[in-house]
Amino acid sequence: MSLQQQDFLRDAMRRLGLTRDAFVSRIGVSRRALDTWLLPDESPESRKMPEIVQRFVSEISAQSGSPVNTLPINGVEGNRRGLSDGAAHLLSVDQFSRESVEALLRVADIMQPIAHRQKFTRVLEGAVLANLFFEASTRTRLSFSSAFSRLGGSVCDTTGFTFSSMAKGESIRDTSRVISGYADAIVVRHPEQGSVAEFAQAAVVPVINGGDGVGEHPSQALLDLYTIQREFARLNKTVDGAHIAFVGDLKYGRTVHSLGKLLGLYKHLKFTFVSPPSLEMPGHIVEALAMGGHDVEQTHDLKSGVKGADVIYATRIQKERFNVEETLEGYSADFQINQALVNAQCAADTLIMHPLPRDSRSGANDLSTDLDQDPRLAIFRQTDNGIPVRMAIFATLLGVENQIEQSMRDVAWGLRTAG
Ligand code: ASP
Ligand code: CP
Repeated sequence: MSLQQQDFLRDAMRRLGLTRDAFVSRIGVSRRALDTWLLPDESPESRKMPEIVQRFVSEISAQSGSPVNTLPINGVEGNRRGLSDGAAHLLSVDQFSRESVEALLRVADIMQPIAHRQKFTRVLEGAVLANLFFEASTRTRLSFSSAFSRLGGSVCDTTGFTFSSMAKGESIRDTSRVISGYADAIVVRHPEQGSVAEFAQAAVVPVINGGDGVGEHPSQALLDLYTIQREFARLNKTVDGAHIAFVGDLKYGRTVHSLGKLLGLYKHLKFTFVSPPSLEMPGHIVEALAMGGHDVEQTHDLKSGVKGADVIYATRIQKERFNVEETLEGYSADFQINQALVNAQCAADTLIMHPLPRDSRSGANDLSTDLDQDPRLAIFRQTDNGIPVRMAIFATLLGVENQIEQSMRDVAWGLRTAG
């Protein structure tokens, strides 16, 4: 077993959909034993699980029907490389089944030692990523870049329309075909819904949607789901049956569109959509979730909406997407998620998430900075998880996910901390 023991066990619980308590009774060990096996290998309290337990866990998780290393992309199973009409892209969370998303997140687990800068790999040596961002970005652009570089590849990019020949009237199709000759994968963020799919049609290499207008942000949803799963494993909870409250601009927030649909692959969730009346979740997403057997409620009242939630997923008001006659009504200070609200309405194990950026200007009423010391705030654990998840996306799209483990080497350098 070259995966860290804790990742192996977490993956097994995730595949089986079991909490820690349910898992110990399934495999017939004490909760205390499991807790020590779940500590990082380098921890002095960590214990190695007996080989017989390891074999049993491998067997039952293999029987769970969730195969490793297959990512159906545009309906194509497995390691399809981006060539001609066989190109595989990541455009929407609609491409995933529960099994394929779990398989991808397992690849993200394998990436953890690299994301933690203990190991490095050169599996993508010689490959080039083109990052095309026609809208503002900090996290998505830099973390895709960092993820590709940490796999050994190199990155070229263009930012904004002004510095691209689209400013001279070049079409998406021409741009996409041209860049396909320069790069082996393309990440695109563009203000128009559907535009990244148009890029993909003309590309001969994999295209990844880094956010298409009010449409989708699939890699964000994948890292959000990964975060929820990792945090829930620690909190003895499962995604099945969880209560998720989405708060803020649910009309224009593409991250909630993608995450809502992705969570819909799980069973019997309760979704509470909390927004001002003018910024409600699109009806087609609400209906699809209700049809999928989930309990869905919509409210304009923050206090009652977040009560009892396992996760509060806050969002920024996407003012840049408002049309000219649109104004923001009903987003007053009593709509803000802050320490007082969380203390009054939430449990000790409620997670507070946000895709970021949060608008910290006064009057924005976005997620308050007064929660920054509260361990329930998971926003920076969320951003950190962007690296292994985006590495997993590249490795899978470029067909090297099976080479990661054997290619890893210890890093020769270390991060020096001040003092
Ligand atoms: N960064 C996220 C996005 O690009 C959320 C946001 O901007 O509010 O969709
Ligand atoms: N979460 C997110 O997409 O952040 P950026 O807009 O900074 O890329």
